[in-house]
This record gives sequence, structure tokens and C-alpha cells, in this order.
Amino acid sequence: MKDYIDTSDFTKEELLEIANLGILIKKNLKAGYPLNVLYHKTLGMIFEQSSTRTRVSFETAMTQLGGHAQYLAPGQIQLGKHETYYDTAKVLSRLVDILMARVQKHETIVNLAKNADIPVINGMSDYNHPTQEMGDLTTILEHLPEGKKIENIKVVFVGDATQVCASLMMTITKMGGTFVHFGPQGYQLNEHFQNIARENCKVSGGSFLVTDDEEAIVGADFIYTDVWYGLYESELSEEERKGIFYPKYQVDMDMLNKASSNCKFMHCLPATRGEEVTDEVMDSDRSIIFDEAENRLTSIRALLVYFMGKKEETTKICKQNLGI
Ligand code: CP
Repeated sequence: MKDYIDTSDFTKEELLEIANLGILIKKNLKAGYPLNVLYHKTLGMIFEQSSTRTRVSFETAMTQLGGHAQYLAPGQIQLGKHETYYDTAKVLSRLVDILMARVQKHETIVNLAKNADIPVINGMSDYNHPTQEMGDLTTILEHLPEGKKIENIKVVFVGDATQVCASLMMTITKMGGTFVHFGPQGYQLNEHFQNIARENCKVSGGSFLVTDDEEAIVGADFIYTDVWYGLYESELSEEERKGIFYPKYQVDMDMLNKASSNCKFMHCLPATRGEEVTDEVMDSDRSIIFDEAENRLTSIRALLVYFMGKKEETTKICKQNLGI
């Protein structure tokens, strides 16, 4: 495994192990048992972009595990102005125990991880969003349709091939499920990602499809979408992008009903209500978006424990506390 977190490098077993560790820690904390396994440990959080879920989840996770997190925002540290990535990585390796970074360019996370002497977690780049997908895997495991295993599910991502779409594909194809990207031509997962999907499916027995045919939605257990604009520096205007995706790729109740009678709705958030998804879907009893947001914290606690070498100790304490 690389020393920065990238779902494409995790095995199916590792992904499930981390997701299940997160669920165990959640049960332990909800039962009221403290868990100070990261006592006196410090996380440095570099953010080149704004964030609600990722920032708050990492900071809350460190507090709940007995450690501390430092928010290192653009303009508040020397990175990018007077100091190189190399020097920043070396210095922070002496000052904190683990780093996470949300970066504009993927090469930044690679550069930081290459030069740091401590684990570096990718908190989202223009390539992928692995911590989102750990949370999404957790949410899917908690909401599996009755009688279905993770290997049997069908997940349809609707809309633009964002980094969340790419990471979701990597996870579902690795699990052995069926992954569909339903999006307009020119905005579909590119050949690089399709190759990853193909390789994953060869190992897992899963399948994938990239299409603009809405019939591919039929039979979906989960429909997932993401925003249509605002993620990248060089993109078409908001109006032009809305014209490409609306109305065919807006998730509404008709689309959910076409998928299956109990198809669940997922979104990484933030959502632009009334654009990629209607209010009716967001607020329906088939929407699991807030469980999904909570599971960012669930899975980030597990990732921190895992990468700080505390997996065995944490599992033992939780099982003792819960009597299992
Ligand atoms: N989904 C997600 O990463 O949310 P934030 O941008 O608020 O962290």
C-alpha cells in the first residue's frame, strides 16, 4: 500500500477491514465508552480548498480518539509562498504524527507523501476522493438491500465524471459489484479510469458500464450523483454546464422509481438542490445522504487508527467494552 491513501491501491479485504473497524468504533462511542487510542497524537490538516465534512470529520475524529488536529489553511502556512513541498513535508514530519491534505492538484499529494516521513492521507485532489469512498462503502454496507451481499449490488453514478465518481467506481468494482456511470458523452469516466475498472472486475468478478442510455439505471440499488460545476479551475460556465446535464441527468423521483422500488439515493454533498437532484429526492425516505455524511467521521476515525498502527489495540478495547 502507498503511504498516501488511494482507494485504487487498497485490496477488497483492506477496504472491508477499515469499513468494519469504523463501524465497531462507532458502536463503541455510541455506547458511551471513551477511546483514547491516539492520546497525545497530532494530525496536521492542509487545506488548499474549502471543506465542511472532511475538515470537521478529521478534527472531530482526532478529538474523540484522544488526539489533536491542527487546521493549516492557505495563507496560514508558508507552503506555496516561501517554502517548497519538500521542505514543508520534512518539517511537518518532525512536528506532527500524521498529515492529511486537500489539494488542487493530485501531484501535490504525491509530492507531500513522497517527501514526508509520516503517513499522508489524501483528503481529495482533482484525481480522486478516497476518504469519501471509505465513508460511502460504510454507508452502503449499512444499507445493503435485504438478502443482498456487497458483491451483488448495482450502483449507478449519474452525471459528471467527478473525482467522487472515479473513487466510487474503484471501490464498487473492487467489491465485485456492478458499477454504471450514466453521463453525457464528453463527461464520462475516461479511458484511464475504465482500464482501472476493467482490471478490478477481472479480479473481483464485478462489472462496469459507461453509457448515456438511461435504461442502464434499471435495477440499481443505489443512485449517486455529484454537482455539475465548480470543481475544477478550467471548465465551461455554470450555464453551459447546466445545459449539458439538465434535464436528462437530474435525479428526480421518476429516476429513482425507474431504478427499483427501494433504490436508495446518495450524494457526497454539498448538493445544489434543484440542479443535479430535486428537493423531493434529497428529503425522501429513500435518501441516505445524512447517514453518508455521518459516515465520513465513522470511516475517518478508522483510517486514522489504521494508519497510526492502532488497529489491533482499538479492536480489542472496543470488543471488550461491547462484550463481543
Ligand atoms: N464531500 C465532501 O468532501 O465534503 P466537503 O467538501 O465539505 O469536505
